[in-house]
Amino acid sequence: MDLLRIRGGTRLQGSVEISGAKNAALPILFAAILSDQKSHISNVPLLADIGTTLKVLDSLGLKTEFHLTDHKVVVDGSNLASVEAPYDLVRTMRASVLVLGPLLARKGEAKVSLPGGCAIGARPVDFHLSALEALGAKFEIEGGYIHANAPQGLRGGVMKLPFPSVGATENALMAAVLAKGASQIQNAACEPEIVDLAVALRSMGAKIAGEGTPTVKIEGVAKLDGMKHSVTADRIEAMTYLCAGLVTGGSVTALGIEEASMTSALQILTQMGAKVECAKSKITVSSTGALKSVSFTTEPFPGFPTDMQAQFMALLTQAQGESTITETIFENRFMHVSELIRLGAKISTQGNQAKVQGPVKLSGAIVMATDLRASASLIVAGLIAGGETVIRRIYHLDRGYENIEKKLSGLGAKITREKEK
Ligand code: UD1
Repeated sequence: MDLLRIRGGTRLQGSVEISGAKNAALPILFAAILSDQKSHISNVPLLADIGTTLKVLDSLGLKTEFHLTDHKVVVDGSNLASVEAPYDLVRTMRASVLVLGPLLARKGEAKVSLPGGCAIGARPVDFHLSALEALGAKFEIEGGYIHANAPQGLRGGVMKLPFPSVGATENALMAAVLAKGASQIQNAACEPEIVDLAVALRSMGAKIAGEGTPTVKIEGVAKLDGMKHSVTADRIEAMTYLCAGLVTGGSVTALGIEEASMTSALQILTQMGAKVECAKSKITVSSTGALKSVSFTTEPFPGFPTDMQAQFMALLTQAQGESTITETIFENRFMHVSELIRLGAKISTQGNQAKVQGPVKLSGAIVMATDLRASASLIVAGLIAGGETVIRRIYHLDRGYENIEKKLSGLGAKITREKEK
């Protein structure tokens, strides 16, 4: 297993190229199941979760090729021989549940291991199932697997989500594009990754309107062609580098990313006293001196994203005064708090609220990554901590950040990857 060693205190400066978004690439790769032709997907990030996704597609009988040097994936949809996503793959990546919609749409059948809990909470899939039921699917749970059936095929219907779940919206969308007749997703998630999925599906011939709003309308078609799509940039990765630059008192430009994908988080940075400059496909965040404390609540898009909460918490340890963070999306997403405290942070939590006192002088220590974004927050903290911070269990980071130590080194950070002894 690898670890990261960071020597804190260097000001970060410069530009960083942002990779394709993991959370957009995953559903888009699963959408390739919908066609019996070849799909060509570019700007796919080189991440462990992408590898798992390709294994899931391979296990269904599809042929996948990952051209690593140019970040392109080709999925040949002609040989869909199995409808089962096995436990060993779903266990390592919950998003494998996104095979449900496409398999039901193309085959009228799917068997997917129940994902179970994960480090940041219970994360059930009930909204996915009730949406697909509205299109005529029937489910049985047996032996830890969801058995899904629609022997007569899916028919259009109204899917009203109790909460704008990202994954449920994606499954609903991928099922409805091949269902007979018209469908509507109400209270749909509006995240940029949903919009990117809709654009990718449209390149296959799908008829979709209203993506990026709470009401998405779909007119089912009988057959879809192969996809041609370039994955949108990763807003969470971009914001992680912008936070990393700011915490060191530096100035970082994220390249390939649009302001509209992260307006709420940029507003918080402005409130904190940072200088935010946006141009077409690039955003620069620069320090102007001391940071001010802020309060924010995580919400579905366009609100402040839960996936940026941990990185902002690390940043707020350097802000003057008390900041309050309220987490409303996941019930157990403060696991980075105890590790940040080991670096000297002053943070207390009560229920879904965390209070951060700053500024404090952090000092390097050995810390353990507990989930993807928690790991990113430890990097942000390590970059400002005195002495050396060693982050262990970084396989979480490799699920979501491509070449993180190379990108940070390019900005001037002193960071190395080593094998854990
Ligand atoms: C996706 C993202 C994840 C991000 C999250 C919220 C991917 C691969 N992952 O996860 O990085 O943090 O959106 O922006 O895109 N819920 C239910 N029942 C369901 C579905 C969801 O109760 O059937 C609850 C969840 O437990 C959670 C909330 O709804 O409390 C939001 O979850 P959801 O938007 O579905 O997150 P994911 O799609 O799993």
